[in-house]
Amino acid sequence: MSIYKSLVKPLLFTLDAETAHSFTIKCLHRANSLGILTKSTALTDPTLKVSFGGIEFPNPVGLAAGCDKAGEAIPAWPSFGFGFVEIGTITGEPQPGNPKPRAFRLPQDDAVINRMGFNSEGSEAVAERMKILKARKPILASPLIINIGKTKVVTEENAVLEDYRKSLRLLAPYADIIAVNVSSPNTPGLRLWQEKGPLKSLLSSIMQEAIASVNARGETPPVLVKISPDMSAHDMVDVLEVAVELQLAGVIATNTTISRSDSLHSSAAKVAETGGLSGRPLKERANEVMRFLFRESGGRLPLIGVGGISSAEDAYERIRSGASLVQVYTGLIFEGPYLPRTINQGLVALLQRDRLKSINDAVGIDCR
Ligand SMILES: Cc1cc2nc3c(=O)[nH]c(=O)nc-3n(C[C@H](O)[C@H](O)[C@H](O)COP(=O)(O)O)c2cc1C
Repeated sequence: MSIYKSLVKPLLFTLDAETAHSFTIKCLHRANSLGILTKSTALTDPTLKVSFGGIEFPNPVGLAAGCDKAGEAIPAWPSFGFGFVEIGTITGEPQPGNPKPRAFRLPQDDAVINRMGFNSEGSEAVAERMKILKARKPILASPLIINIGKTKVVTEENAVLEDYRKSLRLLAPYADIIAVNVSSPNTPGLRLWQEKGPLKSLLSSIMQEAIASVNARGETPPVLVKISPDMSAHDMVDVLEVAVELQLAGVIATNTTISRSDSLHSSAAKVAETGGLSGRPLKERANEVMRFLFRESGGRLPLIGVGGISSAEDAYERIRSGASLVQVYTGLIFEGPYLPRTINQGLVALLQRDRLKSINDAVGIDCR
């Protein structure tokens, strides 16, 4: 058994989920400033390299949004084998998020329910942190995605557009890619922006801002949209149409779900907590969404798969369903920080087993 599972996890699990999380981020930040983390344990195996949105990724396993919301531990993540990092969600204006407690572990289901509600320092403060990090160039040798979302109190349509545009303007110079979050279940009304009309007006406005901006590479930042697993097939087709029409770089699927399957093992009180469910119970649905998106888009729109991935087999299945890249969050809580390294090692073996030369050869192979 790993040191994480035998020692660290039992200690962390004596703390409530959010305290354990804040403590971990602080430790990573500290370890990083003391220079005690190994530079990178990412495998350099050439079969793992992925090109996505015109950007080279050393391997396909990334940190999902919500874990390092404010980008406090960015340089630490590659030490665990991550091939890219997504920070955020960052809102236009600072906001505290929902009252605590707002994150709950469901250990019997390897799952988490959260209703954080975009606790965010706001785009100006995070941009300031990025500026300091950038002075010690590069912020991250691997690609960095910055995820932006809506400030809760901003409701009037034009103000919402401006809220997202402000975040993009301030944060794009430090990012390789921008992800637009319209799928959190914890900001009232946010998911309505996934509907075709509102989504098109929001993303057109964001794309205008993107075209007027440059990212950390001095190029127009590629823009992704992150969607919910609770959408109907019809709504997903709408998202794909808008994404293709507006030349988005791709789609991230999926965010947490508000649905609760009957097969959950945790207590009824835990399961009934309001918020988004992540981890193992989300895996099947997230995979189904991936297969749908890949088939419907004819494989022409790059996809990032996230939701319930906690092993190399899970990651490989998502890739074979259509994902060019995958992300993990809840799996780290239950499996430990070296999960990305384990996934990458397993992916190399699985590709070899199936006589595939690269990740790219495996993308969508089960859906063709
Ligand atoms: C505590 C917590 C906070 C999250 N916060 C965000 C967020 O701010 N923005 C976002 O796009 N996704 C957020 N997510 C969703 C994750 O990025 C991911 O889409 C989801 O958890 C499914 O992946 P997983 O099963 O590997 O955790 C959060 C998830 C958790 C568990």
